[in-house]
Amino acid sequence: MKSVKVFAPATIGNIGPGFDVLGLAIKGIGDIVEAREFHGNDLIIEAVLEADHDISTNPDKNTAGIAAQEALKLLGIKTGVALTITKGMPSGSGLGSSAASAVAGANAVNCLFGNSLSKEKVLEAAMAGEYSVSGGYFADNVAPAIYGGATLTRSLHPLEVTPLGNISDLIIILVMPKVKILTKDSRKILPENVTLSDFVVNLANTASITAAFCKNDYNLLKDNLFDYIIEPTRSTLIPGFPEAKEAALDAGAHGMTISGSGPTVFAITNSQKASVKIESAMVTAFNKKGVECKSLITTSSVDGSGIVKSGIIT
Ligand code: HSE
Repeated sequence: MKSVKVFAPATIGNIGPGFDVLGLAIKGIGDIVEAREFHGNDLIIEAVLEADHDISTNPDKNTAGIAAQEALKLLGIKTGVALTITKGMPSGSGLGSSAASAVAGANAVNCLFGNSLSKEKVLEAAMAGEYSVSGGYFADNVAPAIYGGATLTRSLHPLEVTPLGNISDLIIILVMPKVKILTKDSRKILPENVTLSDFVVNLANTASITAAFCKNDYNLLKDNLFDYIIEPTRSTLIPGFPEAKEAALDAGAHGMTISGSGPTVFAITNSQKASVKIESAMVTAFNKKGVECKSLITTSSVDGSGIVKSGIIT
């Protein structure tokens, strides 16, 4: 019986002001889904490994299970499939945990049966899984987990995504406070109305960040990673956020904001030396406020979801 293991990376979505529109794949963290053909007609989930909390193995209530079933429908295949999901990140962390599982689930089934679905179709399948848990319909985590690099969601109806490219000098300092924030809760508190001046700043910054990834231009990113609309509201859910941001900027970061719906935050630099200092300053600031956290210095991932062969993603 055939089997395949597929990886999908963690993602930052939104990239600063690009709420629900800009997303970025991250190197070094992600979920793995193994899909195995078996006798029968159903899709089952055999196990969810290394999860930080109970995740349902009911395929109709599991983001990877729902996405994998959608992929099977798109492929027109009725063979039985067993999935094993290995989580590589906590859920409710702002790193696109549900999207990584959904993408790996959909793509694992796709790869098991000849890799005949286009990326657009894998996106469609994964979105069904993501939608089931996130309380909103957005592609800024799912899309970069499929395409790699940064992506722009141009339209949701119909679903249209444009891969933007990557910034090779970009170093990302991720700090993950041990606080759980569900995306659906952090969406409920967002403002319904915004001032025209805040809108114009966020629009200009989002456009500039889009151009920065298209042009591989770190300077254009660093001058525009500012969000006047979402961050001020959401940051109130993250204890220690103002102190960690001040510490990051004092330590030389060119910007710091929330990853997705939080609580993970990320700072940016293009200096390896500065990144170590920034990481330490941010962790210390959170700790001083009594918030435990994990941290990682990483980069964006040029690669999206792919097959894992002996630990290598192809
Ligand atoms: N764009 C979504 C949000 C992503 O910010 O709510 C959630 O990970």
